[in-house]
Amino acid sequence: MSEKNMPQPGFHCLTFGCQMNVNDSQWVARALGQRGFVERSLEDADVVFLNTCSVREKPEQKVHSALGRVRQINPRAVVGVGGCVAQQLGGELMKRHPQVRLVAGSDGIVHAPDAFVRLLQEDSLRLSYLDFTSGYPDRDPCLRGEAGSAITPVAFVNIMQGCDNFCAYCIVPFTRGPRKSRSGSAVLEECRAWLDRGAGDITLLGQNVNVFGQDDEGDGTSFPELLHKVAALPGLRRLRFVTPHPRDFSEETVAAFADLPQLCSRLHLPLQSGSDSVLARMGRGYDMGRYLDLVARLRKARPDIALSTDLIVGFPGETEAEFEDTLRAVDAAGFMSSFSFCYSDRPGTRASAMPFKVAREEQLARLERLQTLQNERAEIWLAGRVGMDSDVLLEGRSRREAGEPDDGTETWQGHDPWGDTVNLTLPAGIGRPGLFVPVRFTAAKKHSLMAEAISPEKIRA
Ligand code: SAH
Ligand code: SF4
Ligand code: F3S
Repeated sequence: MSEKNMPQPGFHCLTFGCQMNVNDSQWVARALGQRGFVERSLEDADVVFLNTCSVREKPEQKVHSALGRVRQINPRAVVGVGGCVAQQLGGELMKRHPQVRLVAGSDGIVHAPDAFVRLLQEDSLRLSYLDFTSGYPDRDPCLRGEAGSAITPVAFVNIMQGCDNFCAYCIVPFTRGPRKSRSGSAVLEECRAWLDRGAGDITLLGQNVNVFGQDDEGDGTSFPELLHKVAALPGLRRLRFVTPHPRDFSEETVAAFADLPQLCSRLHLPLQSGSDSVLARMGRGYDMGRYLDLVARLRKARPDIALSTDLIVGFPGETEAEFEDTLRAVDAAGFMSSFSFCYSDRPGTRASAMPFKVAREEQLARLERLQTLQNERAEIWLAGRVGMDSDVLLEGRSRREAGEPDDGTETWQGHDPWGDTVNLTLPAGIGRPGLFVPVRFTAAKKHSLMAEAISPEKIRA
């Protein structure tokens, strides 16, 4: 297409990695929108933003193949790389992939939108933003537009950046830098802006949210205090947070599950291993006894809480017996779902220098055993929900819609307070994103639930 047909510059985002990256990319997209850009396909974009993850070797490799694909499909685009691989490889990325003209590390993303504007104007310019800043790099959330015009009913709000834990396997403290908290008032202001635009479900994000406010950069608000303040905002129906560290989980935060009905009964609480000796080698700062004690206190505060977790198999030196402790932990803690990964050496971490690496085939065999168990538990969880009543926050039309008969109904997709994906058929014309619908679950699929509205005739009212 010619320039004449495209008066506004186009952008395209490609995102790998965790929710923080998804959130950062969405911010870059909104900020580019405010600078006159429109979203386009990769083929037609003038600028491409690739947001990257380096937590394991595989996602890092994906960055190089994605850059190869961008070059093939759209060699004229200005490419910017953000996130953890940008932080880790910096200028090397520009050497290896000359199409890359911007690298923006974790604290540098804030400059990416203006950098793209400059790069389109100055052909030979290259920009890199790789320094860690001493304070939280705060930014305008770019939520302009009519009040009530929900951009999405589900919002994510960063509350901190970075991590000081240096778990033996983890590259995050190197790529995201030292931890620094955002001010409580800035967090509240952003939450209010999302609620004004119709969001009903907010997740607070950080690498280790429990230590929010405990560094020099915050404004003295502690994490449980922040939870109370956000929960009190008018219009908020659901509040979640990720990721907590079991070692730093305070009694006040446990109590928040008893005191704040807005806090959802679902908590992602990374365990990493069920073996005390492996946990010690990982430097996690807790053992199984302490973890299970925390689980018991959480269940006492909120009896219907559902827990999910992250697990690593094949950490250096992990024996068969230590691995079996992890299998046992799945039921001891009663996880309804979990994510598990083969340990992967990351440059500069303590674990990468540890002896007795577990062979790849053994890692994969253990992963398969663990995932078989996890899948069974996840299916049991979903099957157990059938017949129960809950509510669903509608997010959009179900993807399966295309093949549906035109029978006066529409299928919508959303989530329940436990974070399960729910498909719900409603009379045509009454659903909209942001609507909470009381439902009864009618069937469980492999990864989602089917539901019916309890009184669809009341929805319109
Ligand atoms: N800040 C969060 C998330 C860290 S990264 C936390 O502390 O839990 C997300 C997950 O990736 C981790 O929970 C861990 O299970 C996994 N992970 C991190 N480094 C890894 C490595 N080197 N190899 C395999 N999995 C890893
Ligand atoms: Fe990936 Fe971790 Fe960085 Fe998130 S914080 S982008 S998971 S390396
Ligand atoms: Fe930090 Fe989590 Fe790693 S707390 S060091 S990112 S596992």
